[in-house]
Amino acid sequence: MSQNNVLFVIDKPYKKITCFLFFLIAFSSLQPFASAQESSLLDGTVYVDNAPIKTEYALRDGHMMVPALFFKHTGSEVDWNQEYQSVVFRFGQTHVAVASGKEIMTVKNEISNEWKNEPLPIAPISADGHTFVPLVEVAEKLGLQVTYDTEKKQTLVQNPQPKTTHRIGSGNPDNMQVALTFDDGPDATYTPKILDILSEKGVPATFFVVGQEVGKYPEMMKRIVEEGHGLGNHTFTHPQLPKITSIEVLQEIQNTQKALAESVGKKPDLFRPPYGALTRADEELATEKGFRIVTWSVDTLDWTGLSGEEIFLNVQKDISPGGIILQHNVDANPGMLDGTVEALPKIIDDLHARGYTFVTVQTMLDGS
Ligand code: NI
Repeated sequence: MSQNNVLFVIDKPYKKITCFLFFLIAFSSLQPFASAQESSLLDGTVYVDNAPIKTEYALRDGHMMVPALFFKHTGSEVDWNQEYQSVVFRFGQTHVAVASGKEIMTVKNEISNEWKNEPLPIAPISADGHTFVPLVEVAEKLGLQVTYDTEKKQTLVQNPQPKTTHRIGSGNPDNMQVALTFDDGPDATYTPKILDILSEKGVPATFFVVGQEVGKYPEMMKRIVEEGHGLGNHTFTHPQLPKITSIEVLQEIQNTQKALAESVGKKPDLFRPPYGALTRADEELATEKGFRIVTWSVDTLDWTGLSGEEIFLNVQKDISPGGIILQHNVDANPGMLDGTVEALPKIIDDLHARGYTFVTVQTMLDGS
């Protein structure tokens, strides 16, 4: 029975009450709707350089407010100034600073190096531990292009500079080479087992290490280097890089270089972002500091606790000349990487039989 039918059959006095109740319900349900529009966080997608980027946002007086760190996707560096309690954006030579609750944006004059206040039509807000800033106003001040596609209802942000950095997912497809890579270590459980197998089979691999673990396992670090394996930087604490400021990204990378230099006297120029997650600003920062950003072409998904057989099949399915295989040597839960150890000798034997040569990522990329 529909609501209309219900109303049709009730007596007049009840009808009045029903109408009043309906009004109350409608009014009260309208309030949360209005506040959801004005202050609650919503999930949306903004297109940056034509790629969809999911982001939380809030609407304030018709302005789309996005977390300040969202701007890292556009290639703008984003940092926090403790003294002024403000967010500082740097895009090329342009610096813009904004602070929560203040309807001003402070812009650095490139010639005089002085900071000047300019009005901001809407003040940034603090929500969920983040500073949300007006997307259009900050983007335009930084020199980014912002458009709204009314037909597709999409907001598009474009960095006017063509992207020159890139991620390396594989080596030369004309060489029958393959690189085994192991992330997140070293540790005392899986690393020695993996090193034993590699040593027995006589093949090199590349270890993308987490800086804070390096000092804890000096013996493992010594073995990795002495047994001819390659090293890469996999940050110091393994964070989601898009969620931290540009200065913090730099510290993550540099602290690991320091730990590696102290431990084994090496400063690799290979960098792999945790989870493969990297904004354009992070990518440009790492490249500017002389790193080659290495991802992978074969994801074994070993960290999900797959069996040795499943990992072996994942490699068989996706391997090709110049392949970079992603595996792990530190488990999130005990026993999760047993499959990695089980699959390794089989993967090596199978790829050898198919004519592949195992090399470090360094050797694969440097062509020696
Ligand atoms: Ni990792």
